[in-house]
Amino acid sequence: MSDGAVENASNEAGEESGTNSRRYFLIQATSAVAAVGAVGAAWPFIKYWTPSAKAKAAGAPVKIDVSKLAPGEMLSPIVAWRGKPIFVVYRDQSAIDSLEGDTSGLADPDSKNPEQQPEFAVNPWRSERPELGVYVGICTHLGCSPKYVETENFEETGQGGFFCPCHGSKFDLAGRVVAGVPAPYNLEVPPYRFESDTVIVIG
Ligand code: FES
Repeated sequence: MSDGAVENASNEAGEESGTNSRRYFLIQATSAVAAVGAVGAAWPFIKYWTPSAKAKAAGAPVKIDVSKLAPGEMLSPIVAWRGKPIFVVYRDQSAIDSLEGDTSGLADPDSKNPEQQPEFAVNPWRSERPELGVYVGICTHLGCSPKYVETENFEETGQGGFFCPCHGSKFDLAGRVVAGVPAPYNLEVPPYRFESDTVIVIG
């Protein structure tokens, strides 16, 4: 091979090497930009997935002090948990006895719908302690808030309970729905536990 040919071959090899280096650099740079872009595009979603302090607080457990609640009363003012009103009623012995008596006027007296209460509330009073009932105060028909009926008895059950003024649904003192009313289910029992004799933690 002549000197000229050798020089040309050498120049071509140099140019090819330079082209490969530039291509490598461009691929690396493009990948880096794409990665940054992908993180940037996903950032609003990542932020969305991360619960805010406000959202965490809204879902946090709520403590309820029942030390001043007397037999026959419902706790007032009503406490909210996860945006839902929580009814806490203190039943006297005659109310407890009536819950264990005739249940023929009720749609689901044995709490067979598992979605309406935790396992510990599958009993005649639908609560951990017979005297203290804890219920979500939202009618299972269309979501109105029932009123506590303390001094009158429903003819179907012979006891008071909760009356929904929107379409006339009735629930007994354990939140069990009366048969034949628009509401299809018993009132919901939230998850809760007793932190002490007089403090209930909801959630
Ligand atoms: S919302 Fe309660 S009866 Fe309709």
